[in-house]
Amino acid sequence: MKVLVVGGGGREHALCWRLARSPQLTRLYCAPGNPGTAGCATNVALAADDLTGLADFAAREAIDLTVVGPEVPLCEGLQAVFAARGLLVFGPSPAGARLEGSKVFAKQIMAQCGLRTAPFAVCERLAEATAYIGAHPGARVVKADGLAAGKGVVVAADAAQACRAARDFLEGEVLGPAGRRIVIEERLRGEEVSVLALCDGERVLTLPSCQDHKAVLDGDEGPNTGGMGAYSPAPVLGPELQRRVEEEILLPVVRGLAAQGTPYRGVLYAGLMIVAGEPYVLEFNCRFGDPETQPLMLRCSADLLPYLYGAARGELPRQPLQWDDRAALCVVLTAAGYPGPYRKGQPITGLEQAEALADVAVFHGGTAHDADGRLVTAGGRVLGVTALGEDVAAAQQRAYAAVRAIAWEGLHYRRDIGHRAVGRR
Ligand code: AMP
Ligand code: GLY
Repeated sequence: MKVLVVGGGGREHALCWRLARSPQLTRLYCAPGNPGTAGCATNVALAADDLTGLADFAAREAIDLTVVGPEVPLCEGLQAVFAARGLLVFGPSPAGARLEGSKVFAKQIMAQCGLRTAPFAVCERLAEATAYIGAHPGARVVKADGLAAGKGVVVAADAAQACRAARDFLEGEVLGPAGRRIVIEERLRGEEVSVLALCDGERVLTLPSCQDHKAVLDGDEGPNTGGMGAYSPAPVLGPELQRRVEEEILLPVVRGLAAQGTPYRGVLYAGLMIVAGEPYVLEFNCRFGDPETQPLMLRCSADLLPYLYGAARGELPRQPLQWDDRAALCVVLTAAGYPGPYRKGQPITGLEQAEALADVAVFHGGTAHDADGRLVTAGGRVLGVTALGEDVAAAQQRAYAAVRAIAWEGLHYRRDIGHRAVGRR
């Protein structure tokens, strides 16, 4: 089978790394890919949002399955462009991608399907928004409707800050059209967990739980990032809660979308808050998480390809996926300054020593080769150092041992990835 992976970050490197082991694979391409994916796939110089270019390539190369990493091409309609040319995509249709592309749509479908989620209002005018915030003492979370690359959610400390966020989105035009409608919702307090499932339009196959760490500094301080690390499994979600998440959240959404005539095929990612033992939905994403995919791919011990292919065709295999019983943990190494402005082009050393450690994989997120052929930093999230261990604590030790081998000027990482799981013991 010929497969094309779309994207060029750590998530896509981890997907390529796993898919490259499939006995059914004949060719693997990654567009645009990165120096890491070049080790297990053929990189193709096409941007992830060049929908026509990608479809032309897939048609010309007779690609059997295109697996999409990032949300932007999915929300812009990649699946529909491909389907119109008879090309198969693992990733939802544009209608399904609205689960991530529109917070208003997501909250409305959560309400329709009776999912537990924070009480909310949808506002288009500042006066309505400030009135709602004033009348609801818990309503402190303000979300822009559209995609905002992680900048569209403000968890406010008080009403004044919530009103400022509403004004910035609705009238300040800080996000452009993405902020013309907002969701205001109650602030929930609890522990966050991510549950991802493969969906074929009808059935779901829930993957092991994971937890990511969004804040840039230890102790969950500082601004939010795309994710500074992740691990799996997340002990906050025991088997019983996991079963309830599948039955009370994932299946109802998948059935709801099918009933609307828009069956959902691809990864459904539920961002949850566990409040007093009850799972609440914070958000849906329409794709694999980054960096959650890195530990998941290390733990996946089955041939993943038939599952992605089956889901895309509406016929997920009946057998469950096989997972390594051990835990996996990923530490993201970033450029100094990220998530703000950061420098690029710093030479990276120690990668071979890190990769030589047993049960360690280093996934590239933002790297490049410079004119002299040296590996240099080229993004905010540069590498995802990922390790397996008997439990989260052991995976954590091994990952950090590998991290210590790697260096560049201005390297930053959190030293406490996995602290909730380790602290629980
Ligand atoms: P979202 O993109 O909707 O997941 O929001 C990004 C982050 O904001 C989440 O990962 C949470 O940390 C936080 N967040 C979102 N909604 C809420 C809420 N209702 N209560 C508390 N925190 C929230
Ligand atoms: N790690 C969070 C995300 O992929 O959205």
